[in-house]
Amino acid sequence: MKSTVVKPITNRRLSRREAVVLTLAAGAGAFGSRHSDAQHPDAQHPPALITRAIPATGQRLPVIGVGTNSFTESKRMDLRVLLNRMVELGGSVVDTAPVYGESEQVIGELMADLGIRERIFLATKITAGPMSVQSPNIDPGLYGQQSLDRSLERLRTDHLDLLQVHNLQGAERLWPLLTGWKRSGKIRYIGITTATASQHAEMSALMRSLPLDFVQVDYSIANRDAASSVFPVALERRIAVIANVPFGGRAGANLTMSQDRPLPPFAVELGAADWPQLLLKYVASHPAVTCTIAGSTRLEHLQDNQAAGRGALPDAAARRRIEQYWDDQPA
Ligand SMILES: NC(=O)c1ccc[n+]([C@@H]2O[C@H](COP(=O)([O-])OP(=O)(O)OC[C@H]3O[C@@H](n4cnc5c(N)ncnc54)[C@H](OP(=O)(O)O)[C@@H]3O)[C@@H](O)[C@H]2O)c1
Repeated sequence: MKSTVVKPITNRRLSRREAVVLTLAAGAGAFGSRHSDAQHPDAQHPPALITRAIPATGQRLPVIGVGTNSFTESKRMDLRVLLNRMVELGGSVVDTAPVYGESEQVIGELMADLGIRERIFLATKITAGPMSVQSPNIDPGLYGQQSLDRSLERLRTDHLDLLQVHNLQGAERLWPLLTGWKRSGKIRYIGITTATASQHAEMSALMRSLPLDFVQVDYSIANRDAASSVFPVALERRIAVIANVPFGGRAGANLTMSQDRPLPPFAVELGAADWPQLLLKYVASHPAVTCTIAGSTRLEHLQDNQAAGRGALPDAAARRRIEQYWDDQPA
């Protein structure tokens, strides 16, 4: 996959205050990426990890997790370093799915190899039948049971932290199975996912009819529909939110759009050293969002992203400034 290269930031002279804050923000990044821990003076005192509580239980999660729809066997050695580094940096949320090719398998092998299963908040997905195939002959109970068994085997674990109905496919039909697994301790939380605005109304309706713990939904600076459709229901019903595609999807479209623009000067005040960090801080700062999962297969990206989950998040006024700056960019 083509990686998005984010160009260096600003072409104007920084004020003394901005320079100091930017140095601190870069330090947060360096805690992850630019120097080894031993070299960097801030490594012993990184900015505090930002966590949010899952409404159903109060369990706290770091606000930046990792999406794994591009995890493959061929990248296994790099992903081993990446996952290990993520837990070292305080991250824990890993989102995968049976339909992400080798992702579950690779994650399972690496968690076992590294001995990090209990440090990971492990989320995968399920459907009541094959994705994109409508077949009235499929028994959702049998299909769902086989799907969970296969996921547990691939992930080399006897329990999941979160099981999500992928793209809302069969949430009601799978509900008795899901609640049974939750009672027996096979899964801790139940969720549903989408990544398209056309499903937000259906998702919101399910959030009202089912006692869900989590929803996973598309949300980014360039795609704010969920803020007016799904998020108000999540806040009202006390449902945790995982924001997916925070960079606009696999190709990182939002990063491509931003790469020729200077980072806004106020980014440094928010502790964002680059565009990826600013965009993640924007997503994570919505009051309904529990965490966001940035897809990353490169170590430097993972570290950059994890650094966004430390220090401060934008308040409501700062969020508006980010939106205005984004919306003002030339088409
Ligand atoms: N319906 C659903 O349930 C659904 C649908 C879509 C996605 N998801 C979940 O959401 C996750 C996130 O979505 P996504 O991975 O498609 O898209 P994304 O997170 O919006 O963007 C991923 C892209 O951004 C790049 N990137 C990440 N960090 C970067 C950084 N610091 N600097 C520059 N580039 C960076 C990645 O490159 P590298 O790979 O080279 O690091 C990759 O090309 C998925 O992995 C999946 O777990 C769920």
